[in-house]
Amino acid sequence: MQSVYQPLDTTKTYLITGAAGFIGFYLARKLLIEGCRVIGIDNVNDYYDVRLKYARLEQLTPFDQFTFVKGDIADKVMLAAVFEEYKPNIVINLAAQAGVRYSIDNPDVYIQSNIIGFFNILEACRYHPVDHLIYASSSSVYGANTKVPFAESDFVDHPVSLYAATKKSNELMAYTYSHLYKIPATGLRFFTVYGPMGRPDMAYFSFTHKYFSGEPIRIFNNGDFAQDLYRDFTYIDDIVQGIERLLSNPLITDEGALHRVYNIGNNRPEKLMTFIETLENCLSQSLGKTVIFTKVFEPMKAGDVPATFADTRLLEKTVDFRPKTPIREGLQHFTDWYCDYYQVK
Ligand SMILES: NC(=O)c1ccc[n+]([C@@H]2O[C@H](COP(=O)([O-])OP(=O)(O)OC[C@H]3O[C@@H](n4cnc5c(N)ncnc54)[C@H](O)[C@@H]3O)[C@@H](O)[C@H]2O)c1
Repeated sequence: MQSVYQPLDTTKTYLITGAAGFIGFYLARKLLIEGCRVIGIDNVNDYYDVRLKYARLEQLTPFDQFTFVKGDIADKVMLAAVFEEYKPNIVINLAAQAGVRYSIDNPDVYIQSNIIGFFNILEACRYHPVDHLIYASSSSVYGANTKVPFAESDFVDHPVSLYAATKKSNELMAYTYSHLYKIPATGLRFFTVYGPMGRPDMAYFSFTHKYFSGEPIRIFNNGDFAQDLYRDFTYIDDIVQGIERLLSNPLITDEGALHRVYNIGNNRPEKLMTFIETLENCLSQSLGKTVIFTKVFEPMKAGDVPATFADTRLLEKTVDFRPKTPIREGLQHFTDWYCDYYQVK
């Protein structure tokens, strides 16, 4: 059965937090191209190279319909003033401290941005009612679950990193605010998003960096190919298309606004070693010479999970969409962009 969903409403004002970030930038750019009014907030922190964040912003500022506010969502007063001034109809909260491993040594910033910051977003939506609040959760809420694919109805009460715990907490907080104050809210569990202008802390990006700096790449699978790690990689364009289709489709029933969570993943996990081989092939193609990474095998890190695998039927049923970009195609876009951006041969 074909699902019926409302198309993007270009007359609305969209507030995107984390607009200088990887996903926020692409979403903002897509909405601006469609003719929407977009307000972007970002504190442009230095978790990774800020030049990349400014390079993204440089592509957004030429749009007349774009306004950028440099600020921290943990600043409740600033956030209230932005809501008061711009009166956003739809809010997409992507600002957060990302990264599983970083949360082991730097827990404070996760509480500040992901818990306090998200609480401020909920409070702003409470006092300045919106048509829809969409926010980033993560596949990491599934922890070390072994039942695959991961479905939204699965038990997710055993996060194995503080990062995952903050994302699961966001889902609980959003549920409560949605229930109490009738805020239509949707959480998105992203599964390893990749693409050009992506995040330098993620494996595909850092492996490429290491190749050019002549360093070996470290693979945390114990060198055990039989027990390989699996990841559901999702290309950025698919993520943006999925979010775009959901924007005008909050879950509203006869009882009022409701909260819902969706997986957005490729539904086709790749073995880590196959993924690395594909990256080598794509880089070889971009450079016109054979690339083989020097590899060092190490044990799995605390907080890492052995596999991620998204069941995407709920998303498909709601907005008739599921990610479909093959990893070979998506990684080729990434390596082509990388060689051009960093001017490497
Ligand atoms: N990329 C992925 O694979 C992935 C997977 C699962 C979940 N997510 C989630 O999706 C969202 C976007 O991820 P991304 O990959 O674009 O990350 P990103 O780090 O590129 O973008 C996040 C942006 O938010 C900004 N930011 C962080 N804390 C802030 C604060 N307190 N106030 C204002 N701005 C702040 C950062 O400067 C950054 O530009 C995050 O919530 C992340 O946890 C991403």
